Amino acid sequence: MIGSYEKAGKIVSKVRNEASELIKDDLAIIDLVEFVENEIVKEGGGIAFPCNVSVNEITAHYTSPPNDENIIKGGDLVKLDLGAEINGYIADSAVTVLTKGDNNLTDDEIVKNEDLIETSAAALETAISVVKAGVEIGYIGREVEKTITDLGFSPIRNLAGHSLDQWDLHSGLSIPNVKDNNTEKLKEGDVLAIEPFVTDGVGYVVDTPKVNIFKFLKNRPFRLPYTRKVLSHIKKNYPYLPFSFRWLTDEFSINRLNTAIKELSDAMVIYPYHTLREKSGACVAQKEHTVVVEKEGCYITTK
Ligand code: CO
Repeated sequence: MIGSYEKAGKIVSKVRNEASELIKDDLAIIDLVEFVENEIVKEGGGIAFPCNVSVNEITAHYTSPPNDENIIKGGDLVKLDLGAEINGYIADSAVTVLTKGDNNLTDDEIVKNEDLIETSAAALETAISVVKAGVEIGYIGREVEKTITDLGFSPIRNLAGHSLDQWDLHSGLSIPNVKDNNTEKLKEGDVLAIEPFVTDGVGYVVDTPKVNIFKFLKNRPFRLPYTRKVLSHIKKNYPYLPFSFRWLTDEFSINRLNTAIKELSDAMVIYPYHTLREKSGACVAQKEHTVVVEKEGCYITTK
């Protein structure tokens, strides 16, 4: 089991490092997303969730729809969040890159964006330095929040890290980025994705209307044969982990998929992950590693 976590972690860090080198102005987001997903498979992993590329105030849960025309511009703050699995054991990691190239940012804005990136890294480092068996979960959040506010920024209060389990991207525990009252203690062998999000805005995310990522929840009968066909494809291929609308377009036409997915989503047979944006429209930086809790610290699988 630990071997599978390690192997997934190695794949994620290799692909993350290669992909972050590619991030530059004029790169199509869909090319970045497809590079990441293809490389994970080439390296022998399964894709644990659609590759997320969230730019500026878009904070999480954006992956390309089919024929995505969005292009990365100079000065964009690009969050790349990816996951691989081996035998269902998941590695989840994210990094933020400030895109080089022509841009309309002032020197102050460039410095601020670089500081956001550094602060997310410092907050993650703090969290990792306090994680060990027996530590209260609320304490991690307090230390993360303190690191971020000491550096003059705000954590995103309503986004948290999460524990991982086999075929389960969000198992029981939530790892907060702010002080909270959770006195539950970490146990040796817990696997956590820790991901501080840092902003100079109000520090909350809200849903946008866009949904490109879904997850199968529960079965239900449907009257329309096409909806049944889409559902059976989802159950067969993505019974546990999130999938993207884009992946389904290899099998189904976009128009008919739109109808079927809406029906499945309205019936809560699949869960819609709305793209999230910072409420005040401010830029957000994120850094994430997956760690295995040990007696005297933790082991970073995605280093
Ligand atoms: Co992640």
